[in-house]
Amino acid sequence: MKKVAVMLILLFFIIAAFASDPDPVMDYCIAKSPDNKSFTCKNSSKATVEDFTFSGIKLPGNFKETGFSGMAVNSNVFPGLNTLGMSFVRADFDVGGVNVPHFHPRATEVAFVLEGKIYSGFVDTKNKVFAKVLEKGEVMVFPRGLVHFQMNVGDGPATILGSFDSQNPGAQKIPNAIFGSDIKEELLEKAFGLSSKELSKLKKRFSS
Ligand SMILES: *[C@@H]1O[C@H](CO)[C@@H](O)[C@H](O)[C@H]1NC(C)=O
Ligand SMILES: *[C@@H]1O[C@H](CO)[C@@H](O)[C@H](O)[C@H]1NC(C)=O
Repeated sequence: MKKVAVMLILLFFIIAAFASDPDPVMDYCIAKSPDNKSFTCKNSSKATVEDFTFSGIKLPGNFKETGFSGMAVNSNVFPGLNTLGMSFVRADFDVGGVNVPHFHPRATEVAFVLEGKIYSGFVDTKNKVFAKVLEKGEVMVFPRGLVHFQMNVGDGPATILGSFDSQNPGAQKIPNAIFGSDIKEELLEKAFGLSSKELSKLKKRFSS
């Protein structure tokens, strides 16, 4: 009995250690429609090079209040990525711009600095921070599921290209998940020691 339990626990850790997008079973499977959640494949005889190229991140996207613009290129916007287990993001920062603390539940990220100087880091589950200023050409890895953040500390615009080991890494921004959601206000006030006035200020800032 004991042996079986140990085997089961081991098996669980082995499966957990290898958790990632499934391996493809075909050369490719271009998702038929970007918003088709069933992800049926486009008939491969109709595939063209356009299915495997993407031109939507030549320029930065719209900047948010925090001086940040992120354009996630996952299988929903680039159907050719479907089943290939990877995706990417272009992120641009105004001077002083901030990518708020966030995490990707389904992927590790490698972020390459294309331009500028970016204070960049993550926090592990012991709340230890690993952070430094990265310059153009440098790379940082953000382990899967860990909270990470970036800020442009140079005197010009900054740009990064992030790559993910999932076709759909997901992104959860900490302030928005906490203050921009419908969590009961009383709970948030108690959890964070906030007055209702302080909370409503945060809710206003991070809703939507
Ligand atoms: C998704 O694809 C399936 C199979 O081709 C089709 O039946 C369905 O209508 C599509 N759904 C959408 C929302 O395009
Ligand atoms: C794919 O397209 C080809 C050529 O139009 C056609 O002969 C074939 O039946 C199609 N396959 C499927 C599964 O629809």
